[in-house]
Amino acid sequence: MNAKLNMKPNEKLKLNMKLNVKMNTNMNKNEDEGKHEGKYEDKHEGQHADKHEGQHQDKYEDKHQSVMVSEVLAGLNIQKQGIYIDATFGRGGHSKAILDHLNQEGRVLAMDKDPEAETKAKELSANDSRFTFKRGSFSGVYAFCQELGLLGKIAGILMDLGVSSPQLEKASRGFSFRLDGPLDMRMDPSSGISAAEWLNTAEESEISRVLKEYGEERFHRRMARAIINARSQAPIATTLQLAEIITKANPAWERHKNPATRSFQAIRIYINRELEDLALGLEQALEVLLPKGRLVVISFHSLEDRIVKRFIQKNEQGDMVPSYLPLPILNVGKKCHRIGKKAKASITEIAENPRSRSAILRVAEKEAE
Ligand SMILES: C[S@@+](CC[C@H](N)C(=O)[O-])C[C@H]1O[C@@H](n2cnc3c(N)ncnc32)[C@H](O)[C@@H]1O
Repeated sequence: MNAKLNMKPNEKLKLNMKLNVKMNTNMNKNEDEGKHEGKYEDKHEGQHADKHEGQHQDKYEDKHQSVMVSEVLAGLNIQKQGIYIDATFGRGGHSKAILDHLNQEGRVLAMDKDPEAETKAKELSANDSRFTFKRGSFSGVYAFCQELGLLGKIAGILMDLGVSSPQLEKASRGFSFRLDGPLDMRMDPSSGISAAEWLNTAEESEISRVLKEYGEERFHRRMARAIINARSQAPIATTLQLAEIITKANPAWERHKNPATRSFQAIRIYINRELEDLALGLEQALEVLLPKGRLVVISFHSLEDRIVKRFIQKNEQGDMVPSYLPLPILNVGKKCHRIGKKAKASITEIAENPRSRSAILRVAEKEAE
């Protein structure tokens, strides 16, 4: 008799997830670099999944391994006395690497939405007077520079997008479909509404749209329906509850992918306004940079990368001159140009830090005026 048949639904789900995690782990070992290019995938899930099995849910390492550090430093074209912005401080790996390359006149200004990132950043600012932190979204980077009287004086800006490992691995933050926790998913838990509040009140069509647009989830309609049905019995309160609802509503599991991956990522992107913030942050970045200042962006999935790529293309082209005008107006409205091609992590880095395998780094330089 198949032991799985005697299991309660929750036990079955856990077993299925365990099997899926094993598949993920094996896949990571064999994967070729670039195999997932253009695909939508979660950079963190699958990385440390086995580590947590059988452990206390909230035992996690408060560490984040920064990706593509040497490529970031090269992209920023570090000048020793320059002022740099790390718009996504996380656990500060990139900020510290930049500070290591500056002299006493150089500065790093950092931002992050997350209160736990702020705690780490305060430790750094207490020990290094060249470092200043402000909690908030990088969609406020213009105002931050204005406050400091540094508009147009920034030598380089880094945006390392998405979530940090501590955010994903701490069950109580509610980001992970593998760890049971309150369904929150906010990078800044003091602002906006949690994933649970949204899922328990949103229209079915709205949930469906989010899963489709931000998760590129084929089964967005079925999943939205399943969420509505489930919440009519009892409010959806935890990450594993949601994972179970979505998993059951997914009729065709993709190989090497947890069936809830796309939906969790979609909900996270929506709840944190990630794509809207990115569009605003990119526009402001060009405003605050010095002429010839550098913008470096690391993205982890195709929706983000598309926004970055198109932003650079648009500002590289400048204003469109009507074709009937016999004017050789070239640089009108041109704000930046790209430096090099998109870069990916080296095979060595991917072997050491599997999370880096989906990182795509793009660099642009502001026009000299
Ligand atoms: C991939 S981690 C950055 C890791 C960091 N570079 C390091 O070396 O530790 C992304 C961080 O960006 C933050 N974040 C995401 N979107 C943000 C936004 N719009 N504004 C500010 N911080 C944001 C997250 O809270 C998270 O801490």
